[in-house]
Amino acid sequence: MKILITGALGFIGQNLYNFLTKKGIKVIALDLHIRDSEDYIRADITEFYDLWKVFKENPDIDFIIHLAGEVGRILGEEYPHKMVYVNAIGTINIIKLALEYRSKLIYFSTSEIYGRKFDEKMVSENDALDISPFMLTNIYSISKFFGEVLVNHYVENYGLKAVCIRPFMIYGPGVFPNKYKSAIDQFIYNALKNKPLIVHENSLRAWCYIDDFIEGVYLVLTKHEFKEGLFEAYNIGTQEYIYTKDLAIKILNILNKPLDLIKIVQMPTKFVSKEKRFSIDKILSLGYKPKVSIDQGLLKVIEWHKSINNSDEWKIQ
Ligand SMILES: NC(=O)c1ccc[n+]([C@@H]2O[C@H](COP(=O)([O-])OP(=O)(O)OC[C@H]3O[C@@H](n4cnc5c(N)ncnc54)[C@H](O)[C@@H]3O)[C@@H](O)[C@H]2O)c1
Repeated sequence: MKILITGALGFIGQNLYNFLTKKGIKVIALDLHIRDSEDYIRADITEFYDLWKVFKENPDIDFIIHLAGEVGRILGEEYPHKMVYVNAIGTINIIKLALEYRSKLIYFSTSEIYGRKFDEKMVSENDALDISPFMLTNIYSISKFFGEVLVNHYVENYGLKAVCIRPFMIYGPGVFPNKYKSAIDQFIYNALKNKPLIVHENSLRAWCYIDDFIEGVYLVLTKHEFKEGLFEAYNIGTQEYIYTKDLAIKILNILNKPLDLIKIVQMPTKFVSKEKRFSIDKILSLGYKPKVSIDQGLLKVIEWHKSINNSDEWKIQ
């Protein structure tokens, strides 16, 4: 089996690359940055020629795992042109080559595509069929939803074989914190620096440790049946729901920091959902068993943050 991972230098990409290569699977890693490694190709997914060369030299790619893109709610609001362009044009380029070279496509979407549906119910995969683009709450979700719609179009009308993964709150060591990253990364960084932890009142999430998530992706890769003309999706996450305030308390307690570093602010009425409740029944049916509790996962991430936190040198790397 030969797999192309786009966005292979990102958080999920690096973990997935390590996991798959350890299993002896041949992986080609693709990303924007310059690296000197045999199985790495520098390419921009918005440049069709870059991608065309990858496939010309590797016409036997069985799967494309398409992670590359502009990622995050705040990033999209600050750089909407870039996000819409990269996530839409990059995806259409990948689709065209997947069709030409008969590669199966695993498209990475996001939990954000459920938008205002989260206000109504615990969402499951098919709820996406009832979502109007007018229910989406940010540019990131709009760009990823559009990607799903594009993939669906080519599955239904052109014979593309594809499946979609919707990750929910993935965390783990290795994410350099900044305002575009998750609450966990920001909270740990701020706690270590004795800076306030800004908590959205009543915000509720279920966090998924990266190793569990990667096992879920592997199940989709190995067990999903790519049926002709049918585009399906999998939610991947855990059901260990926690209020963001309690998450902040856990982090401060582990680090022996005062709880008054927590600053509660009202939930914004725009861009973000208060609660994200979702079903994982579909991925469970493939044998998914998340193992790492939030308490265990936080310890691992905190350990990693401590290892980089003595200086901020990484900020300009
Ligand atoms: N991490 C999460 O919790 C989460 C949640 C929901 C969805 N996702 C999705 O999973 C995927 C991977 O997320 P991540 O957390 O690893 O993000 P990341 O930002 O760490 O990685 C994205 C990678 O894509 C690369 N990239 C960006 N533009 C590119 C371009 N034009 N050409 C080639 N490469 C490009 C970046 O250099 C980066 O290495 C994304 O599609 C994201 O939308 C992630």
